[in-house]
Amino acid sequence: MSAGAPIGVLFVCLGNICRSPTAEGVFAARVAAAGLGPHFRIDSAGTGDWHLGKPPDPRTRRAATARGYDLETLRARRVEPADFHRFDYILAMDSANLRDLERLRPAGFPGRLDLFLRAAGLAAALEVPDPYGGDAGHFEQVLDLIEQGAEQLLAALRARHGI
Ligand code: 4NP
Repeated sequence: MSAGAPIGVLFVCLGNICRSPTAEGVFAARVAAAGLGPHFRIDSAGTGDWHLGKPPDPRTRRAATARGYDLETLRARRVEPADFHRFDYILAMDSANLRDLERLRPAGFPGRLDLFLRAAGLAAALEVPDPYGGDAGHFEQVLDLIEQGAEQLLAALRARHGI
């Protein structure tokens, strides 16, 4: 990352239709509320390819809309090698996502590849559990964790980058 360039943050899960688009939308909302939009480039992607081009899962959108987040324009894509050149922070929702990303990571990647909640410094949990086979409660739990993670991640990045 060169001085003055936006800080690139990529959130990654398996399908890119539940957890990582939620993290993208919630983190973008926190960044916008802080007036820091120009300081960041924010995106999400999946390690799997089952849902390419699809909007977030209806259950994800319903839960997000109820808390005031707009995920309607997001479309699923797969993580690609070029992401390691575009993003400074590549943040996985769970350990399986992280292992898949570690296999894609080019030698000399200068950024941080880690679990989202670990990078955020959240003490309560390390992983955002996959809600896909779950019920509405699992989607609420995903949002609870992501809201806490996004808040702390933004604080950590502001401190680290002096913004
Ligand atoms: P996500 O959830 O990784 O949070 O987007 C999932 C979405 C789809 C599948 C698994 C997890 N799937 O197996 O299709």
